[in-house]
Amino acid sequence: MFNLILFGPPGSGKGTQSDKLVAKYGLIHLSTGNLLRDEIARKTPLGLEAKTFIDKGRLVPDEVVIGMVDAYFDKHKNARGFLFDGFPRTVAQAIALDKLMELKKTSIVSVLSLMVSEEELVKRLLNRGKTSGRSDDTDEKVIRKRFAVYNDETTPVAEHYKKGGKFEEIRGEGTVEEIFDALCKVIDGRMIKNR
Ligand code: AP5
Ligand code: MG
Repeated sequence: MFNLILFGPPGSGKGTQSDKLVAKYGLIHLSTGNLLRDEIARKTPLGLEAKTFIDKGRLVPDEVVIGMVDAYFDKHKNARGFLFDGFPRTVAQAIALDKLMELKKTSIVSVLSLMVSEEELVKRLLNRGKTSGRSDDTDEKVIRKRFAVYNDETTPVAEHYKKGGKFEEIRGEGTVEEIFDALCKVIDGRMIKNR
């Protein structure tokens, strides 16, 4: 299995680049944000609970997210690999993912971190909020809260992976194609090393 994590703050382009990466490398896209929005759209109990956190720009509790990831992983037993987008977002989630990888006798090959300035991030999210219908994109206060949560709870996840020597920073500003090419270069290098 070839498993990757796409890491970065809200609006850094994780979803945009994930679509292109899964198509190129034949991976399964595991976006916890998309899975949660799907639960909300279907008005499941999990979705209704998650919505109360998402609308405030807060994280959904770890146990809810981890349970969802485990179930999604088991649903795609024959996957060539996974691209994790928006997960793990806390150190507890990273530890749970380590355990899952060990249980499935696989590992994370690389953590790719998209670097974008906060000014550019706010611009992108407010712009998307005009058309996406995402409740967490329309209010700048909620967007700022998502950044604060990212700084407090998610940046320690980077330290978790830096220790393992798998963490790579990639410039997340420029055209979508330029960023995609930079990501592919790193991934191709990792693939050769992993053979
Ligand atoms: P989630 O859905 O993961 O959202 P996010 O991390 O806040 O990030 P976004 O999806 O907004 O941004 P992105 O990095 O994917 O960028 P995108 O490609 O869309 O999470 C939402 C919420 O769910 C969380 O706040 C939390 O409540 C909950 N949640 C999710 N996962 C969780 C977890 N693991 N634990 C707990 N809670 C969890 O791009 C953004 C915009 O920029 C788009 O309009 C795009 O077109 C544009 N854009 C992309 N690339 C470029 C470029 N190069 N130049 C110009 N514009 C660009
Ligand atoms: Mg996204």
